[in-house]
Order: sequence, then structure tokens, then C-alpha cells
Amino acid sequence: MKFNRTLRALEWVGARDGFLRIVDQTRLPQELRFVQLHDVEEVREAIVSLKIRGAPAIGVAAAFGVVLGMRQARYHTAADALAHLERIVHLLRTSRPTAVNLFHALERMYRVGKEAITAPDFNPLANDLVPRLLAEAQAIWEEDRRLCRAIAEQGAVLIQDGMGILTHCNTGALATSDYGTALGVLFMAHEQGRRFTVYATETRPLWQGARLTTFELRLRGIETVLLCDNAAGWLMRQGKIHLVLVGADRIAANGDTANKVGTYSLAALAQVHGIPFYVAAPTTSFDLNASDGTAIPIEQRSPLEVTKPFGLTIAPDGIAVENPAFDITPAQWITGIITERGIVQPVEARTIAACLGSQSPRGE
Ligand code: MRU
Repeated sequence: MKFNRTLRALEWVGARDGFLRIVDQTRLPQELRFVQLHDVEEVREAIVSLKIRGAPAIGVAAAFGVVLGMRQARYHTAADALAHLERIVHLLRTSRPTAVNLFHALERMYRVGKEAITAPDFNPLANDLVPRLLAEAQAIWEEDRRLCRAIAEQGAVLIQDGMGILTHCNTGALATSDYGTALGVLFMAHEQGRRFTVYATETRPLWQGARLTTFELRLRGIETVLLCDNAAGWLMRQGKIHLVLVGADRIAANGDTANKVGTYSLAALAQVHGIPFYVAAPTTSFDLNASDGTAIPIEQRSPLEVTKPFGLTIAPDGIAVENPAFDITPAQWITGIITERGIVQPVEARTIAACLGSQSPRGE
């Protein structure tokens, strides 16, 4: 399969009459299929079904979803336009609950839309709302690309020659606008000439590690070893893992971190084995309204993902299933959080507040 290193997980194509093009991540690695999304319902479906996934990418996709939704909407008054905007934002807000980037991006789109609609010179027939929304969505996309590079630059110093680095789920170009967060750190260290081995967990039940992470690492020529999720402890015990590096879907004000289910277990194992455990995430992944991890909603997904992964029946019909998509790693088990502004260490409310400063978590 041909796969360009600079290929984008999502990208707006064309001008105001354009569309959102995404890689359908449910088809990888067997097939590189691009999908064109022309309306907000298609964007919502792509997020729910994980065609597009990863916290930053979900936020960016939703921002473009608002553009598409308002382009479809028919309104003759400012009040109608605002009602449409609210409906569209609500539709997208209810796609996935855990990654906070979705809510930050939608708040930003709503603010820009509302400001335009409630301005005294707003003309509902002039059709100039869509270009304004499109400019904001593109700014969010661009900003995410910049943040990823900056995170990589901050974190690459942690990666030394000969290390074994364990990662979980997928945090690369496919999960962001470009390059990635935790994987971006590894890409940058590799580009800087360091040689190391990445141990990628399968990431049951949807195998983002096996399907997407190994794919991205191989593409960049990084030595990669795939392991079953439940093999991680034994590899640590054997001394093969020197550092654990994962992404985040939402980080509470005290540093408790929601990430793909299984992250908690890896952090516990890292504690037992005395292995440094780092999270890499943009400041858009912080939620200062959540004082600690108990305030973070955890998405529960269909039992069928566990009993019939990718259509293959592996458990008896009707068996009770727990399928949380995320878990919360306590701040005290996290050695540091690599952000675009620097590494937060030790991880606690005080150091997080200092990193975010008086600016909003979106870095505006
Ligand atoms: O369910 P997913 O595939 O959207 O989960 C993704 C993760 O948990 C990632 O680790 C997280 O979003 C960070 S992506 C840079």
C-alpha cells in the first residue's frame, strides 16, 4: 500500500463549498480509504464509528462539522440562524463524551458563530457566516498542527539511544491534525537520529495499537514490536521497557488523566517496576473544570466490540460485557506531562496551573 508520510487524517478540501476529507481509520491497515464528508450528520457518524478518532482529531473534525451544518441550514432571521447553530453544536457534542478537545473546539466555533449572528450588521441572507466559521475551523486545525510539533520538541529529549518505549493506543498523525502527540515525540527523536525500540500494545477491543500505531511507526522506519495488552507487565519485568509514553483524552486540574482503557493498568505496572510514565498532550486536553478524575465522563461502548470484534464471534451470545473506552490514571503515577509549553513535573494542580498560566487551556 502506498502511504505518504505527510498524509493527513483529516483535511478540508476546497473553499466554502468544499468538504472534509478523512482517512477511514476503521479500514486500516488493510485499506487506505479516503471518505468525503459533506454534511454534519456524516461528520457525527464518522466520530461515533471511530472512522476519525483520537482526541485532537475529534475536536478538529467537529469544528469542520459546524461549518458543514451551518452551510446546510436554511434561515431567514438571526434567531433562526442561532437556533440552527445551537442544534448543530448539540448534535456534535453528543458524539463522544470523554475527549475534552471536542468540547473546546465546539465552544470556540459556537462563540465565533454567535458573535457573527448577534452582530448588529448580521444579514441572514448574505451568506457570510460559513466563511467565518471555516476560517475558525481551519485555525483550530492549524493550531493543532503547531501544538503537535511543539510537544514533540519538548519531549524528544527524554528519548535516548537503546531505550525500549512502551506506548498504548494510537497518538500519531492519525489521531491529530498532523504528526501526533506521544508518537510525535518518538518521530522527532528518530528524526534527530536517536535509535530505540517502540513496544506498541494491541489496544483491545478496537486494536488502535496493532492497526494504526505499528502502521505509523513502520512508515517512519522506527523499530517496532507489537505485544498483546496483557504481556506488558512481563516485558517490564524482563527489563525491556525503560519508559512508558501515552496520550490523553482529558486531563483534570490535578493531573488525573483519562486515556484509552488499559492506560491505568500500564501506569500501575510502571509504578511496580520503577519505570517513568509520561503523558504527552496539548494544553487543549486540559479541563480545569474537572478538579480531579472523578469528574471526567467515561464513554461506555457497545458490547459487540468485545464479543464480535470486526465481525468475528469470540464469545457466547448474550454474555454480560464491560466495555469502558477509557480509564483514569491518578496524577501521582504520572512522572510528567509533556505539553507544547514544557514538561509539567511533578504532576499536581500547582504545576499545571503554572503551565497553563492565566491563559485559557486552549492557549489563546
Ligand atoms: O477511542 P480513541 O481511539 O479515540 O482513543 C484514543 C486515545 O485514547 C488516544 O490515546 C488519545 O485520544 C490521545 S490522541 C493524541
